[in-house]
Amino acid sequence: MAEVSRLWRGVIEEYRAWLPVSPTMPVVTLGEGGTPLVASAWLSEATGCEVWVKVEGDNPTGSFKDRGMTMAVSRAADAGVKVVICASTGNTSASAAAYAVRAGLVPVVLVPEGRIAQGKLAQAIVHRARLVQVKGNFDDCLKLARGLCEQYSAVLVNSANPDGYRLAGQKTAAFEIVDVLGDAPDIHVLPVGNAGNITAYWAGYQEYAKAGRAQRRPRMWGFQAAGAAPIVSGAPVEHPETVATAIRVGNPARWGDAVAARDESGGRIDAVPDEAILAAQAGLAARDGVFVEPASAVGVAGLLRVAEAGELDRGQTVVITVTGHGLKDVATPLEVAGDVGAIVVPPEPDAAARALDLD
Ligand code: F0G
Repeated sequence: MAEVSRLWRGVIEEYRAWLPVSPTMPVVTLGEGGTPLVASAWLSEATGCEVWVKVEGDNPTGSFKDRGMTMAVSRAADAGVKVVICASTGNTSASAAAYAVRAGLVPVVLVPEGRIAQGKLAQAIVHRARLVQVKGNFDDCLKLARGLCEQYSAVLVNSANPDGYRLAGQKTAAFEIVDVLGDAPDIHVLPVGNAGNITAYWAGYQEYAKAGRAQRRPRMWGFQAAGAAPIVSGAPVEHPETVATAIRVGNPARWGDAVAARDESGGRIDAVPDEAILAAQAGLAARDGVFVEPASAVGVAGLLRVAEAGELDRGQTVVITVTGHGLKDVATPLEVAGDVGAIVVPPEPDAAARALDLD
């Protein structure tokens, strides 16, 4: 008899009991969530721990933002809103655009002019978002988005939104990890930009532990890029600069929540330099077959640095969230790789075999 497979229904239907949704709310979904948890032989060997990567680039628009956006846009549709607005370094805008058009809403996306990756720009364009390039950085965009939502009839779908819908959707990633591993890991590692995701994961782990679904809570380890590390330095960064454009954020909206997640979990938030981020991105692609964008490799870089400093006890279970797909930004890794000397051959087996040194 043929096996019956079940369609993954998206995070609202899969985790409805854990989310603040009414039975009558329309569900705007692209089937987000249910992403792979992949064992990393490379990182396990390098650290002496059991290391897993949660591949969030496998979401419908290529980043973890979809988990929150299904909630935010469903809620906006339910409330009869016509226009949704977000500020973004590129992934939130891609996600907001896709989910909004699906619901028949108008997405307005504010991005820092010339500072987001091409793939993300393309996503806003193909989904026909009203794309606004702001002469400023992400923090300026967020301020502008908030101001527009206060004065005009539009709803903010950033995770800074006080209604908490975005974060409620994002916490489902922590649920999935516990559901797969059977318990929370000892350590959860992830990049920190506007600090929504670390806040969401911590909420998810705590909720599952309180409900008896997990026996323990992980220590939360967040990493920022060295040129955009306000939480590490303890002061806003006026001109954040990093190759990891997705987390080029100088004044995170969820700063206090991120610090709380760190402290309540006995965790850490540290900075990693751009070179280490790019090396981690390259290693993950070349060793584990997982292609992520630069910002998504920040957790990998951070874990390796802590391990090299002798501050990581062996034998622990570690999950690293890799937040967005590598295809979003192909310019950066191609520039790093430089001239790779591609082999050019005529369409003849002997010539190709000679060029490839095949026996
Ligand atoms: N990784 C990626 C790929 C991101 O796009 C972001 C944030 C983060 C990590 C950090 O997550 O902000 O919850 O701490 N991107 C936002 C955006 C700022 O506009 O797409 P966070």
